[in-house]
Amino acid sequence: MKKDLLDLQEITTEEIYEVLDLADKLKKENKLGVEHHILKGKTLGMIFAKSSTRTRVSFEVGMHQLGGHALFLSSNDIQLGRGESVYDTAKVLSRFVDGIMIRTFEQKDVEDLAKYSDIPVINALTDLLHPCQVLADLMTIREHKNGLKGLKMCYIGDGNNMTNTLIQGAAKVGMDIACASPEKYTCDLDIVKAAQKTADENNSKILLTTYPKEAIKDADVIYTDTWISMGQEEEKAQRIKDFEGYEITAQLMKLAKPDAIFMHCLPVYRGYEAAAEVVDGPQSVIFDEAENRLHAQKAVMVKLMSDK
Ligand code: CP
Ligand code: NVA
Repeated sequence: MKKDLLDLQEITTEEIYEVLDLADKLKKENKLGVEHHILKGKTLGMIFAKSSTRTRVSFEVGMHQLGGHALFLSSNDIQLGRGESVYDTAKVLSRFVDGIMIRTFEQKDVEDLAKYSDIPVINALTDLLHPCQVLADLMTIREHKNGLKGLKMCYIGDGNNMTNTLIQGAAKVGMDIACASPEKYTCDLDIVKAAQKTADENNSKILLTTYPKEAIKDADVIYTDTWISMGQEEEKAQRIKDFEGYEITAQLMKLAKPDAIFMHCLPVYRGYEAAAEVVDGPQSVIFDEAENRLHAQKAVMVKLMSDK
């Protein structure tokens, strides 16, 4: 049966570690100049209904490094953007390509695309989730902290697709996570409920608060994301007002563990969700994180698209 990557809640802890281990191996080989053409002759169709730098480049380069080919399909250019159904798009693409990556608005469109496709579908960000980013984040944390279980992550800012997925990922690997967002910008509570069950099984905690100082206390990993996600541009002025007090400053960072790392999925807006001195400071691992998108996604594509 074909497998997809739609939602981290649907995959097991073992599967997450399989991806992370393979990603580490592919990264090491890549640095040594070892070629690994595991997906020779395969094609990935990449549907984008939103902008992207990292996701587009890392999937395209990743596919190239694996011996395959990636096709950039802007939803403005394909018929999906003019009203062709997700069903027909899934059926047609299944006749041409070996896997589909999609970045769009509604999680349901990604789920439907997977339901109607005969080939693996990878969620490359929806308004609800961003699983590829969190796999790369877990890989990055493991590189810097030599493990995941028992660590404390804190997320400060908008309760968005990143927050939802970080909560799922943390629960799966037994990491505590504390999220501080203004009351009306909290993360998805259905996702938290499902993740709480996983966290209970793995003896980890999920805390939601409105106080950044409470969330960051003794954290090993500090994470934030933009206050204005793609599609929310018209709310910019209001959001900047509402998020006052949620900027990660050097002073706030002092409440975390002294060896804590600072993370951000990027793009970052210095002086809003985080101060420039934090983003560009010695605790920041943001560019390792960006690089690891390549290695983690190569591992995902190998797991989902290779013949063995
Ligand atoms: N972090 C991330 O997904 O970046 P892009 O929007 O540039 O793809
Ligand atoms: N929350 C952001 C993440 C970008 C990678 C957005 O959805 O725009």
